[in-house]
Amino acid sequence: MKVTVVGAGAVGASCAEYIALKNFAAEVCLLDIKEGYAEGKAMDLMQTASLNGFDTKVVGSTNDYSKTANSDVAVITSGIPRKPGMTREELIGTNAKIVKSVIDQLVEHSPEVTVIVVSNPMDTMAYLVHKATDLPKNRIIGMGGALDSARFKYRLAEALDCPISDVDGMVIGAHSDTGMVPLTRLATRNGVPASTFVDQARLDEVEQETRVGGATLTKLLGTSAWYAPGAAVSELVRAIAQDSGKMFPCSLYLEGEYGQNDICMGVPAIIGANGIEKIVEIELNEDEKAKFDEAADKVRQVNKALDV
Ligand SMILES: NC(=O)c1ccc[n+]([C@@H]2O[C@H](COP(=O)([O-])OP(=O)(O)OC[C@H]3O[C@@H](n4cnc5c(N)ncnc54)[C@H](O)[C@@H]3O)[C@@H](O)[C@H]2O)c1
Repeated sequence: MKVTVVGAGAVGASCAEYIALKNFAAEVCLLDIKEGYAEGKAMDLMQTASLNGFDTKVVGSTNDYSKTANSDVAVITSGIPRKPGMTREELIGTNAKIVKSVIDQLVEHSPEVTVIVVSNPMDTMAYLVHKATDLPKNRIIGMGGALDSARFKYRLAEALDCPISDVDGMVIGAHSDTGMVPLTRLATRNGVPASTFVDQARLDEVEQETRVGGATLTKLLGTSAWYAPGAAVSELVRAIAQDSGKMFPCSLYLEGEYGQNDICMGVPAIIGANGIEKIVEIELNEDEKAKFDEAADKVRQVNKALDV
């Protein structure tokens, strides 16, 4: 499998590193507009290969899309990250232009590609890719829910005072501070409802900590996070490479599912060789449905700023 990662910044480099470390891809092409930057990161990563024991070939490219030709998967991380106090939605003006120019060039060189959109505001950028290309909807995946669910599990394990591997849970909705819908009702520790271990007030705190998970890190780091985003992307790419059928919440183009149309939002999906193999519809309770619909209204507002 050949994977292109556009944007060799914090998140892009982390994606490339985790993909290489997991050793399932033949090649990762890292591309950036900054002269020599992607080549430098690729060379540095290749010099870890004998130390970390991977065979994936990592190459760099300064905006030369011919090097990305015939990619099976392309990850779009190019664009500006938020600074402390900013929302993801505030990035739209700059990032929409970048994502539009990137997707046109990617598809020209890899018409069969499956695209994973990471740049923020991610749900709107995934929608932009859907509108700006003829790619089938199963080949456009917005990455947010896989990361938000990992953050949810981290907070849940903290509340339950247990190892993270004991807990399970999922976040659907929008990839934004107010639009995430952590499904606390369905969260478990080894199959036992999380509510058995902690009261609702603590679970409400977990929900809130999850929603602002990215903002908390941005405040600490001065820019947005990269390890967990890179790891989340690498797991999606691996599910495609290995046709594993693993389920992740992803931002997908909805046509009636979850009562929504003509929008990309986070819902559970089965990921395999064809990208989205299946959207999984689970029954939401009234409160979850109301939160999901409210998040959809906000995503639609942001989508209106797009020129597609
Ligand atoms: N979806 C998620 O869960 C998630 C998580 C974290 C970050 N993000 C988003 O990912 C994006 C990248 O974040 P980061 O921390 O890596 O930022 P960064 O500034 O470290 O890296 C961005 C890179 O994109 C490059 N770039 C800009 N325009 C380009 C173009 N036209 N072609 C190719 N490369 C271009 C820049 O040169 C830079 O190296 C941001 O929009 C951020 O908000 C999303």
